[in-house]
Amino acid sequence: FNVPEPVNEPILSYAPGTKERAALKAALAEARATQLDIPMYIGSEKVYTDNKGTVVPPHDHQHVLATYNIGSKQHIEQAIDAALAAKSAWEKMSWENRAAIFLKAADLIAGKYRYKLNAATMLGQSKNAYQAEIDSACEIIDFLRFNVSYMSEIYSQQPPVSPRGSWNRVEQRPLEGFVFALTPFNFTAIAGNLPSCVAMMGNVVVWKPADTQVYAANVLMEIFREAGVPDGVINLIYVDGPEAGSVIFNHPDFAGIHFTGSTAVFQEIWKTIGTNIHKYKTYPRIVGETGGKDFILVHQSADIAAAATAIVRGAFEYQGQKCSAASRVYVAESIWPQVKELMLKDLSTMKMGPTEDFSNFINAVINERSFDKLARYIDAAKTDAGVEVIAGGNYDKSVGYFVEPTVLVVQDPKYTTMCEELFGPVLTVYVYADAEFESILKVIDETSVYALTGAVLSQDRYAVEQATYALRNAAGNFYINDKCTGAVVGQQPFGGARGSGTNDKAGSMINLLRWVSPRTIKETF
Ligand code: SER
Repeated sequence: FNVPEPVNEPILSYAPGTKERAALKAALAEARATQLDIPMYIGSEKVYTDNKGTVVPPHDHQHVLATYNIGSKQHIEQAIDAALAAKSAWEKMSWENRAAIFLKAADLIAGKYRYKLNAATMLGQSKNAYQAEIDSACEIIDFLRFNVSYMSEIYSQQPPVSPRGSWNRVEQRPLEGFVFALTPFNFTAIAGNLPSCVAMMGNVVVWKPADTQVYAANVLMEIFREAGVPDGVINLIYVDGPEAGSVIFNHPDFAGIHFTGSTAVFQEIWKTIGTNIHKYKTYPRIVGETGGKDFILVHQSADIAAAATAIVRGAFEYQGQKCSAASRVYVAESIWPQVKELMLKDLSTMKMGPTEDFSNFINAVINERSFDKLARYIDAAKTDAGVEVIAGGNYDKSVGYFVEPTVLVVQDPKYTTMCEELFGPVLTVYVYADAEFESILKVIDETSVYALTGAVLSQDRYAVEQATYALRNAAGNFYINDKCTGAVVGQQPFGGARGSGTNDKAGSMINLLRWVSPRTIKETF
């Protein structure tokens, strides 16, 4: 099969004085100046309602960037009907034509919509320019291009043996029904990938993004439509989550869910699907990436400067709101003073403020709920005799939801912030005696209720081997001598097990296979 060979999209730098920086600044200014009323997309209709939500930049929450239209039960039903009405023509379309639409979407993002999409991510989700470039533009371009190549491989796989007189073949059918895509605030690329990779395989989709992601989701939807995704194939709705669930999970044509979000919500969804299982025509596919409590383990042999950088970057890029972000670190006692010194030096240079000022590395956390939760954990840590706050610890929500990058050092490796998911710029460090490396491996594994990402930093190959084996189930993405964020599509398929999800690796053939229902055909001559 002949599809363009995918290569990772080169990352633009946005350095001062570049034309890319000027173009992104212009896109930000244009977004600020345009008061959008963002519609839902159901079938061929842009749908407006009387129930308006507001989009505010998390770093400037008094400013209403846009309104959006919130739907009700009737819109959820309409979205399902529109999806089912589009199904037959879409699944009959050759896979090459479906592929062409999504390759065009990738090119549109790489070209004329790159700055608009990054600006939307910067304003709507408070992600800085560099992180937006990596996590929204480049990652969704990569998802689209690599998924097309995985798709072509899936369609080309056939049983190797057809004895004389027969012909065995496998036909990759789309699922029978519609798929529900529920997407999180933190990655525009995930918002784009969850509905598009399902649709690419010939399925029809009802897509509900997080209400803190509406602004970028709208840009993605416009791009999908311009690229040629037909009416009804992807329907974008803004509705109450439980209400959506009550319609969707009761529908006989519900065929699957592609989810990224919290563990608690995913588990509730799974239970509901279980309770309703007799109502469906087919067993729904349940694919989800959920919580995380990602770790970095620093062995006494680690390169000290590299360890400090990996920890600071891994913990505080995008305010620690990546699902892959490091939130607990275990450091060998003998090198901790030097690692600490370099970390604090690095942190002291990191500016915090709005995304429109490109010199700010740290921006706001996503919303007030998240801010208040982080403030509670920080306050509790400040009054706990067993915890030392060595960096940050301040927060302020008067203009935006700003929480300083905060580093806690704890005496108990099972302290709450070593175990619970905070999803913000709060890192907890436990310093272990060098000789206790083996027992710390046990502690990490035991406290890994989640298993998304993890890293070991060590120049000692025995230690690397020991950690890689002992922590084999504690991280779906495991890094040796690197930070635990920044998985690249086509390089490190992404996803975790345990409380972190079904581990159906985003950006891989494993994931795309969940969205087909193969039919094996044996023909006898
Ligand atoms: N690529 C992201 C990361 O690893 C996840 O989507 O941080």
